[in-house]
Amino acid sequence: MIPPAIRRSLPLLALAGALLLPAGCSANRNREIGVYSGRHYNTDKELYARFTERTGIRVRLLEGKDDALIERLRSEGKTSPADVLVLVDAARLDRAAGMGLFRPTRSAELERDVPAHLRDPQGRWFALTRRVRAVVVNPKLVPPASIRTYADLAGPALKGKLCLRNSRSVYNQSLVADQLIQRGEAATRQWVEGLVANTRQPFFTSDIPLARAVGDGTCGAGLVNTYYVARMLAGGSGAADQAAARQLRVVFPEPAHVNISGAGVTAVSRHPQEAAQLIAFLASPGGGRGYAEANNEYPLKGAGGNPILRDFGPFTADGVSAAQMGAANRQAVSLMQAAGWN
Ligand SMILES: [Fe+2]
Repeated sequence: MIPPAIRRSLPLLALAGALLLPAGCSANRNREIGVYSGRHYNTDKELYARFTERTGIRVRLLEGKDDALIERLRSEGKTSPADVLVLVDAARLDRAAGMGLFRPTRSAELERDVPAHLRDPQGRWFALTRRVRAVVVNPKLVPPASIRTYADLAGPALKGKLCLRNSRSVYNQSLVADQLIQRGEAATRQWVEGLVANTRQPFFTSDIPLARAVGDGTCGAGLVNTYYVARMLAGGSGAADQAAARQLRVVFPEPAHVNISGAGVTAVSRHPQEAAQLIAFLASPGGGRGYAEANNEYPLKGAGGNPILRDFGPFTADGVSAAQMGAANRQAVSLMQAAGWN
């Protein structure tokens, strides 16, 4: 884990090697789009290569932290080479839209493949993958059947056993925003206070160490995105994490909070048509399989074919729209801070 101070000073990861050139498409040599992406998964690059193969449109990729990319795009203004901005989390997409960084896009394919509650009503951004913020429990400490809803995490049985990531995590901010929309301010405030009262401090800085701590019995229960657990189970973060993940159970609260990663065409794009073509490809069932499932996320519709996710079992999405979550982010953050969720 990289300490935040060092992480902040790390330059954006410029991936010069990600210029993906297909063989034999000389007619399209000048068709190239710039993609700024807050996703950082090798499996994404295979998808961009497939898009290039199919269309002849080359992808020049710059990966970085979501907030740094937003800032970069804003400061570059009209000189930015970015045609597509890919971000993780509904709140960030909403913020970038509010800053005027996206241009509205109309596309019959996108409207067909991206359910309405997973895209901006004005067409500024579209979800590409879904991620569920689920409960993980160590069954030696907390009976999995004792957790049915997010509200159960605030119950007295979890006193000192609950572990949470800090409130700077946009994932938790969006969960609280989601609860605000569903349950209203008073109930959500009470819930957040109950969570904080149950928390075994200090707060964690990321999901994997939190899942690890639940697996090894330091914590009885926690909240994490399921793709991290899947990654651990697949051995993606080492044998020790794989063993820890096998000790925990994933519990989907009923209904479950679903967040997204998504993308939009930038306001300054010089190739908006090609940019929209890439987004439509990534959102299509074929493209989405690589983008979502290879990173253990859920595709836009259905559960997909990832066997680890299938083992987690089904979940019921609560249906809160990504746009609503984005709009409630500020209120969620102030509520968390007031309750001492640091
Ligand atoms: Fe993540």
